Amino acid sequence: MTNSIAKTPILGRIKTRLVRFLGAWGVFFKGFIKHPVMVGSIMPSSDITVKKMLAPVDWENCNLFVEYGPGVGTFCRPVLERMKPDAALVVIDLNADFIDYLSKTIRDSRFFPVHGSAADVQQIIADLGHEKADYILSGLPFSTLPDQLGPKIAAETYDVLRPGGAFLVYQFVKRARDFMAPHFAHIDSGYSLWNILPCHLYWGWKAK
Ligand SMILES: C[S@@+](CC[C@H](N)C(=O)[O-])C[C@H]1O[C@@H](n2cnc3c(N)ncnc32)[C@H](O)[C@@H]1O
Repeated sequence: MTNSIAKTPILGRIKTRLVRFLGAWGVFFKGFIKHPVMVGSIMPSSDITVKKMLAPVDWENCNLFVEYGPGVGTFCRPVLERMKPDAALVVIDLNADFIDYLSKTIRDSRFFPVHGSAADVQQIIADLGHEKADYILSGLPFSTLPDQLGPKIAAETYDVLRPGGAFLVYQFVKRARDFMAPHFAHIDSGYSLWNILPCHLYWGWKAK
């Protein structure tokens, strides 16, 4: 009886999602314990934050989407679900354990996990055959990055975006906007209360 219930599709799907969530959360928590400042958060972002952050993206005109600090991939699956079949998602993380986890768990020919620093985005996408990105998403803990790294990442990001592209940033503190402001004349902002901790959302648009 119990076995036949467990085999019904809906329960099977719930079980798969639960196992995936607990597995991902365990890897993320371990990453936080090992490198608390670099990871900067105890929990991955919520589904609501993901939806809000991605809402303004024009997927029809997105050929290259880049993500800084994907962690265990909270945004990766939703981005891949929305992306065109011929687009690419390049994710860059300093933590080798996260990149290893993503490489093993996300099988998609459009997905390129890279172990490295967001500060090297220009070189990383060039090595993969791209000149410009349409959108760049950042989950980096901007306010705790080592000195001068935040300004360098913001400058590199602006250079690498195509005109009309956008830099999407979410962070617990408003300071992330200070890094964007010298480059992006137009910054939209929002807030996600349903997140641990609640976070500020910013969309910096590069002029067309
Ligand atoms: C708050 S976590 C974001 C996790 C995930 N994006 C989410 O929303 O659940 C920050 C991530 O940034 C990564 N990170 C920190 N500094 C970095 C850097 N300079 N370049 C790339 N990734 C970095 C950390 O390893 C971590 O995975």
